Amino acid sequence: MKMNGSIFVLGRDSDISLSEIRSLYKDSHNIEILSPQVCYVDINSEEVDFARIGGSIKLARLISVNKSSENYEQLLYFTSSVLEKLTEDNNSKINLGISIYQSNLSLKNLNKFKMDLKNHLKSTGKSIRLIPNSSMSLSSAQTFHNNLDRKNNVELIIVYSQHSYYISQVTAVQDIDDYFNRDRMRPKRDTRVGMLPPKLAQIMINLASVKLKTINGSEAPLLLDPFCGTGVVLQEAQLMGYRIMGTDLSEKMVAYTKENIDWLSAEYHLNRNLAFFFDVGDATNYRWPERPNLVVSEVYLGPPLTQKPSLDMIHKYRDDCQTIFKMFLSNLANQLNSGAVLCLAVPAWRFKDIFVGLTIVDQLNDLGYNQVKFESVNQLPLIYHRQGQFVARQLLVLEKI
Ligand SMILES: C[S@@+](CC[C@H](N)C(=O)[O-])C[C@H]1O[C@@H](n2cnc3c(N)ncnc32)[C@H](O)[C@@H]1O
Repeated sequence: MKMNGSIFVLGRDSDISLSEIRSLYKDSHNIEILSPQVCYVDINSEEVDFARIGGSIKLARLISVNKSSENYEQLLYFTSSVLEKLTEDNNSKINLGISIYQSNLSLKNLNKFKMDLKNHLKSTGKSIRLIPNSSMSLSSAQTFHNNLDRKNNVELIIVYSQHSYYISQVTAVQDIDDYFNRDRMRPKRDTRVGMLPPKLAQIMINLASVKLKTINGSEAPLLLDPFCGTGVVLQEAQLMGYRIMGTDLSEKMVAYTKENIDWLSAEYHLNRNLAFFFDVGDATNYRWPERPNLVVSEVYLGPPLTQKPSLDMIHKYRDDCQTIFKMFLSNLANQLNSGAVLCLAVPAWRFKDIFVGLTIVDQLNDLGYNQVKFESVNQLPLIYHRQGQFVARQLLVLEKI
């Protein structure tokens, strides 16, 4: 494990977040899972373009790994040494945040630990303001609003794993305001087609970029969203530097996408040449003007549901969605080169404690696709679900055979 390597704090859908990290780094870097919420990647933290990663809430630079049994005094000693070094040349008041994962320390002891650190640093002439913990780790909002990834401020992420204390310093946190801006401030939104969170769109794009490193030529890869709705996936893809092509059955949605993309291009000073092509079209029979390198889309999820559906209704919605999905995949298959990658969010309906998903997932080979699987923590399908929602999204990553 190398110092300056990266510690990623995963978002609440940790399996999906971990799959995103694996998709981005597994071919080129060693990845180690330190706890259900934290993983290590042997890439220098300065090389990580954190704003492009949707599933991790914080990035930290690994500073020290200390073999030890779990022991308060040892932890205090290791952490004080790290802090002394970090604050060596700093005479201003320092905001200090501490997040601890997988330790048997109680919240009460964590607060004592922070006071002990503060007193220790005081004895070396440093003035510290402690950021209060309401749980063992600070939320991304606390880190963001206290600017704990900036100069004069320090947040340490401490993980106890494999009989060692891993101590790292936060270098980046998800920019909550920017995500809010991209989501809520765009001119056109539509609750009826559902609202894909920009973070999830980024995750899906990253899950589909598994093999993109092998694409030749200097031109940006072309990303297609054939059910583009209001254009969330396309927005995020354009921000990440892809050329984008979007189609949708609804004329209104295509107009919304265009307006949102125009807004984004102006707001973020983007290269307008990346916005390649938009058209009204039925994904089950449309012929796209160029072969995309990747296809990322939240497909038709069935009608919006305001009340809990019965199992019979779920089966009906599933059949309808499945028919469209199957026709779409076979129409697309002969418009893709072998090796093109897809990440599709398909519906899975919540019924009691289970998710009823599309059964076609087992016949993808016959349609010309292989499913790409990620080693996840619990080996279940990647399902994105929010409390109170009747329709969840299952993320499928496919490769054209
Ligand atoms: C779940 S929404 C996608 C929402 C989009 N991700 C967004 O954030 O705005 C599905 C979209 O599929 C479109 N749609 C439904 N059937 C279609 C078809 N056969 N071909 C193309 N688009 C279709 C709908 O008009 C709708 O905009």
